[in-house]
Amino acid sequence: MANQAYFNADAYSEDNMIIVKKKADWINLQDKIRTKDTTLAFVPTMGALHQGHISLLKKSKQLANLNVSSIFINPTQFNNPADFKKYPVTTEEDILMLERNSCDVLFLPGVKEIYPEGEINTNHIELGYLETILEGEYRPGHFQGVCQVVARLLKIIEPDYLLLGQKDYQQCMVIKKLLDVLESKVQLIICPTVRDNDGLALSSRNLRLTTDERELAPEIYKTLSVIKNELSTKNIEQLKADAIQYLEQKGFKVDYVEVADALDLHAITEWNGRHPVVILAAAFVNDIRLIDNIVVEM
Ligand code: PAJ
Repeated sequence: MANQAYFNADAYSEDNMIIVKKKADWINLQDKIRTKDTTLAFVPTMGALHQGHISLLKKSKQLANLNVSSIFINPTQFNNPADFKKYPVTTEEDILMLERNSCDVLFLPGVKEIYPEGEINTNHIELGYLETILEGEYRPGHFQGVCQVVARLLKIIEPDYLLLGQKDYQQCMVIKKLLDVLESKVQLIICPTVRDNDGLALSSRNLRLTTDERELAPEIYKTLSVIKNELSTKNIEQLKADAIQYLEQKGFKVDYVEVADALDLHAITEWNGRHPVVILAAAFVNDIRLIDNIVVEM
């Protein structure tokens, strides 16, 4: 166990990360440490931390003078119970990593703390089209679960900034919409995707890949890069079909490869080079589902 301080508002010092497990304790701590000059940046995560998560923490330190990161594996966003059960848990290592990277406060609640009256969602967010496509189509209910937990976390933490990764492109759009619906003043900051040297986007799920699967996984990014390079010269439907065929030949089970308007996620069939587009894919390597995307600016 790391030498970090569990909650004691009086023991708070700027040099120590403090771990808070209860909402009431956070409120108490906040009363003590938050002044009118405090700017608070919040990085929500589900743990199994890697350099992608840490890049958000680093960015948050540039933006604000107080960082709160959270680790909560949110049961309501897992449409597949097996995926929830297998989600990697590395809390001890996570705590060390956050400490080493100067996280100020780790909010580490249990399920009862976030869902005291159970996990039923009583606050449906109207996401419209966004929820019917891509991740929304293949993971029914997923984004309602994401909205449910992010809305609750924001209400507890009350940050000025919320940091998210572009790696989950559609999630960023969903949360942008959530902030609109909530008429929230929180500023959303989207950070670039951090990749391994071979292009694979860092992901907590990568921990579950075997050596062979890990070797195969970067093919997703490679395939997206091929589409990016050929976008202005080739037919988009053909590029998508070729990409799916290529990935399937390599042994992936492909949920989707899509080329969409980067602002509203509507699929496009032609690119005029004047609007940003996003190329997205979701594919299984055996039973591990990976997602990735590349944004192509004008
Ligand atoms: P999680 O998958 O743990 O991701 C937490 C944050 O880290 C998200 O904003 C995600 O986009 C970002 N992230 C993940 N991999 C990244 C990478 N390679 N580069 C940059 N950023 C990366 O996303 C969730 O958790 C949950 O849905 C959550 C928002 C916490 C709600 O439960």
